[in-house]
Amino acid sequence: MSGKETVQAVENAETAQWLERIARREAKIGVIGLGYVGLPLTLLFSEERFRVTGFDVDAAKVEKLNAGGSYIHRIEPEHIQAAQKSGFHATSNFAEIADVDAVLICVPTPLSEHRTPDMSYIVSTMESIAPHLRAGQLVVLESTTYPGTTEEILVPILEKHGAVRGVRAVRAGAEPGGGVMVAFSPEREDPGNTKVNRRDIPKVVGGLESAATATAAALYNTIFHRVVPVSSPAAAEMTKLLENIYRCVNIALVNELKQLSLRMGIDIWEVIDAAATKPFGFQPFYPGPGLGGHCIPIDPFYLSWKAKEFDFSTRFIELAGEVNEAMPYHVVQAVSAALNEHCKSLKGSRMLVLGLAYKKDVDDLRESPSLTIIEMLQHAGAEVSYNDPFFPTVGRGRKYHLDMTSTPLEDLASYDCVLIVTDHSSYDYRKIVAEAQLVVDSRNATRGIASPKIVRC
Ligand SMILES: NC(=O)c1ccc[n+]([C@@H]2O[C@H](COP(=O)([O-])OP(=O)(O)OC[C@H]3O[C@@H](n4cnc5c(N)ncnc54)[C@H](O)[C@@H]3O)[C@@H](O)[C@H]2O)c1
Repeated sequence: MSGKETVQAVENAETAQWLERIARREAKIGVIGLGYVGLPLTLLFSEERFRVTGFDVDAAKVEKLNAGGSYIHRIEPEHIQAAQKSGFHATSNFAEIADVDAVLICVPTPLSEHRTPDMSYIVSTMESIAPHLRAGQLVVLESTTYPGTTEEILVPILEKHGAVRGVRAVRAGAEPGGGVMVAFSPEREDPGNTKVNRRDIPKVVGGLESAATATAAALYNTIFHRVVPVSSPAAAEMTKLLENIYRCVNIALVNELKQLSLRMGIDIWEVIDAAATKPFGFQPFYPGPGLGGHCIPIDPFYLSWKAKEFDFSTRFIELAGEVNEAMPYHVVQAVSAALNEHCKSLKGSRMLVLGLAYKKDVDDLRESPSLTIIEMLQHAGAEVSYNDPFFPTVGRGRKYHLDMTSTPLEDLASYDCVLIVTDHSSYDYRKIVAEAQLVVDSRNATRGIASPKIVRC
């Protein structure tokens, strides 16, 4: 047999063993990074009776989970306790990687200060786990990243530790079948979306070799109703970016058309609803005060950065970024104009901002336009309070410094303006409009309410 055929034979036998262990729920799962993505993923595998070990460098999270608690709003402590009954525990001890069969990596992939991909979390995870990996394990990266990351970042670290398998490794002198299998499978969750069941979101999987794709696909098939295999990790990485760039560009388009519609005296939300009745060729996107969250404001720039290596300029991404980043300025401008109509200026006015979270009904502040808007209003001399049921206080972050406490929704008439930035479902918008002097609404949360006090922007 040729070297390639020997590798194939060993791998086929191993894959068959893996599939059997998955079917019998004997495969042990390790999830690295127990945040908004990793913790729900852990719970899905636990529900399917897999034993899951969760790894996180945050000792407070590990302690909380092991005490049966939760730190994510939509995950109840009972869910964690049910997972514990299926064998779940959390740890910061990466030596425990040797005890699991599959390692699923869900660590952050932010942008650096200079808006370049920050790969430090992935690199540090790989450096922590590589010494403990053993032959036959499956390593899957789920973090959103640029095409090429799996092969260019993960594989070299594994090679350095002699831990990657397949023809490449055999050529480098390893035994056939030795080393781990590697795949990329993007997380496609939409936090706060109660319409789509997580198990109904198809899981895209691209392995470094066919055995990795087949094994990862079989594993994910136990928790997702559909798995979509693609030919390589890079194709899976690009799939995730295409999805998020599509969203980012279309949101920019409606944000631009909203500004034009405002000038023309047309209600853009009415227009979008009418256009959405077309049964083909149109998908509605909605304007807002700016992008937020860990995905849409960040992921497209992973591709722009990578494109430069190919002398390619991603003009749609740059233009969408420009339009979306200008939206908080548009909102502040609209507040200023609305106050002006009441013969008031921003400087010295009392403002109540409703909603800190980046979108409704989530406890996530990352990249939230609310933070930018509050800072801009303060900078202009306004006296700003906020209310958000998910955030009793807000301190300092990478890009903001607020140190504020959520104000009760009382005495609304005492504010010169109530500004709706996040349209949480728990707010009673009729009551807010009835009590406030002036309401500036950046989300169309007051839809259906007719009042001269409302300015939609
Ligand atoms: N949040 C979303 O809605 C969403 C949706 C799709 C994809 N994603 C992607 O999933 C990835 C994770 O995002 P998230 O929202 O879950 O982030 P998160 O910040 O909520 O969670 C990441 C977790 O990783 C831990 N961590 C950091 N470095 C670590 C290390 N070296 N070892 C172990 N743990 C470490 C952190 O303590 C944290 O608990 C990102 O790439 C993101 O782009 C997120």
